[in-house]
Amino acid sequence: MPRPIIIDCDPGLDDAIALAMALRAPTLDVKAVTTSAGNQTPQKTLHNALGLLTLMQRQDVLVAGGAAKPLMRDLVIADYVHGDTGMGNTHLPAPDFQPVKQTAVELIADLLRTSSEPITLVVTGPMTNIALLLSQHSELKSKIERIVFMGGGMNAGNTTPVAEFNIYVDPEAAEIVLQSGVPLTMAGLNVTHQALVLPQDIERIRSINNPVAAAVASMLDFYLPLYLSHPRGLPGAAMHDPCTIAWLLAPELFESRELWVGVETQGQYTVGMTVVDEFGQNGKPANVEVLTHINRQGFIDLMVECVSRY
Ligand code: RIB
Ligand code: CA
Repeated sequence: MPRPIIIDCDPGLDDAIALAMALRAPTLDVKAVTTSAGNQTPQKTLHNALGLLTLMQRQDVLVAGGAAKPLMRDLVIADYVHGDTGMGNTHLPAPDFQPVKQTAVELIADLLRTSSEPITLVVTGPMTNIALLLSQHSELKSKIERIVFMGGGMNAGNTTPVAEFNIYVDPEAAEIVLQSGVPLTMAGLNVTHQALVLPQDIERIRSINNPVAAAVASMLDFYLPLYLSHPRGLPGAAMHDPCTIAWLLAPELFESRELWVGVETQGQYTVGMTVVDEFGQNGKPANVEVLTHINRQGFIDLMVECVSRY
């Protein structure tokens, strides 16, 4: 039976590629897509999600918009990475269906409540919606099979020297989720900076003859130069959010460690840092499966296989 999942995302270029990998995967049953504010404004991420599902011909998937801003902070967006629309220079089809009337939290709660089996939550943006869900519907925790999230890193940051964007935008939400007791798998920068799309991989995707592959190649054309010009010196574009779907589809591509992770919410220089207790120094039990390594070529081959299904 396909694994039921709900994807909470802030599309966003890499979110879009994660959706493309998930929506035709025979082993995944995408029950809903909910949107968060992060890469772009809540209005734009919702519009992009509807446009992506229209492009991918999955208008059957329920869509709901989420919180307009982080729990306690002003919204910070990443238009410097994803562009003014959040989709780079890629033009999506006009959405031909509407989101549901419920909020993201209400939709996720309803789906968890009525599901005959626990549902996996995939989170690829700031964790505001999921923190609200866990706070307002704690009785539904047992209906969450696991939360697989892109965020954080072990001594790594892309928004500050020590903070990754998704966690940085809403650190209070992330700490609520990380200390919730729900099983967690973390795709942090340590692994996503290994999941690199190289120029030749983009040409491989461009050669696939379908409109989704063409859109993915176009998104990567916009995204790649940002990485090649960055002082970090990566030779390709980091596929952050697709790592969550890749782990669900092919966990054998990854190595991981069970570690304690907490989120700094008070530090003068370290707000949004995921503090990863690599050596068990704080005596707290591990709460997160931290992905540490990925087989890059296997990941690229999986991406190509997924995008070829459209
Ligand atoms: O730091 C990378 C993360 O922030 C990704 O999820 C990207 O889409 C942005 O949301
Ligand atoms: Ca994202």
